[in-house]
Amino acid sequence: MGILDGKVALITGALGGQGLEEASLFAREGASLILTDVRKDAELPNEIVNSKHMLLTHDVSDEASWAENVLRGQKQFSRIDILINNAGVYRPASLADTDAALFDYHYRVNQLGVFLGMRAVLPVMRANGGGSIINIASGAGAKGTNGLFAYSTTKWAVRGMTRSAARELAPMGIRVNALLPGLIDTPMVAIFPKERNSEFVNRVPLGRIGVSRDVANAALFLACDASSYITGTELPVDGGYLA
Ligand SMILES: NC(=O)c1ccc[n+]([C@@H]2O[C@H](COP(=O)([O-])OP(=O)(O)OC[C@H]3O[C@@H](n4cnc5c(N)ncnc54)[C@H](O)[C@@H]3O)[C@@H](O)[C@H]2O)c1
Repeated sequence: MGILDGKVALITGALGGQGLEEASLFAREGASLILTDVRKDAELPNEIVNSKHMLLTHDVSDEASWAENVLRGQKQFSRIDILINNAGVYRPASLADTDAALFDYHYRVNQLGVFLGMRAVLPVMRANGGGSIINIASGAGAKGTNGLFAYSTTKWAVRGMTRSAARELAPMGIRVNALLPGLIDTPMVAIFPKERNSEFVNRVPLGRIGVSRDVANAALFLACDASSYITGTELPVDGGYLA
């Protein structure tokens, strides 16, 4: 018996570091998976290959792409119980070095994409009688940061949308929560030299950078019925960095 037996989860950015780990864990816990990513190259681990799943090409900033993929998922599995708005982009730049195009790039994927996702699954979850939406924000959206101007702006917005949506959707039995990962070892942060990450560890009370499994475990908790009285909250997964 898995914690997510009978549940259907849609995970965006599912071919990235955290998305793939969440998909693998959710598959082991019995969920059926609608995995989406703008990337097409996919090497899926066995637990996903052996699970009920579908892999769809999807740009989260495109409204029509959301409509099409939610419909395809619904046709295949009849319902959607869990949405993880995980897809994200990260191009570090200071305010002075951020032009309108770079700002818009982050806005469209990290912020507009989350809004479109919540709105696209809403009628399906309402028809199910409820659901759980998990928005992946960031510690960079909870603290002023240097050199991540557009990125951190969008992650602050994800926290705001999470709280407003939690209030609006609670009467429909839909819970909406945010995860705030700290530095997690994925391809997203591989752009930095290893020394930078080592230096960052000195500021993390638990003394290590995170791994995708840390975030996946927290996502599993927010996705499953064990968190049925939790909505509108923000859970840092950061080794105590924001404490
Ligand atoms: N890695 C970290 O340190 C860290 C820290 C805090 C928050 N986050 C957030 O966690 C989430 C997952 O990031 P990750 O670390 O796994 O990075 P990643 O780069 O490994 O994965 C991101 C995935 O999103 C996909 N994606 C990008 N643009 C997309 C689009 N327009 N439509 C659909 N998919 C798209 C990419 O193809 C990729 O597979 C992101 O929202 C990120 O901002 C990451």
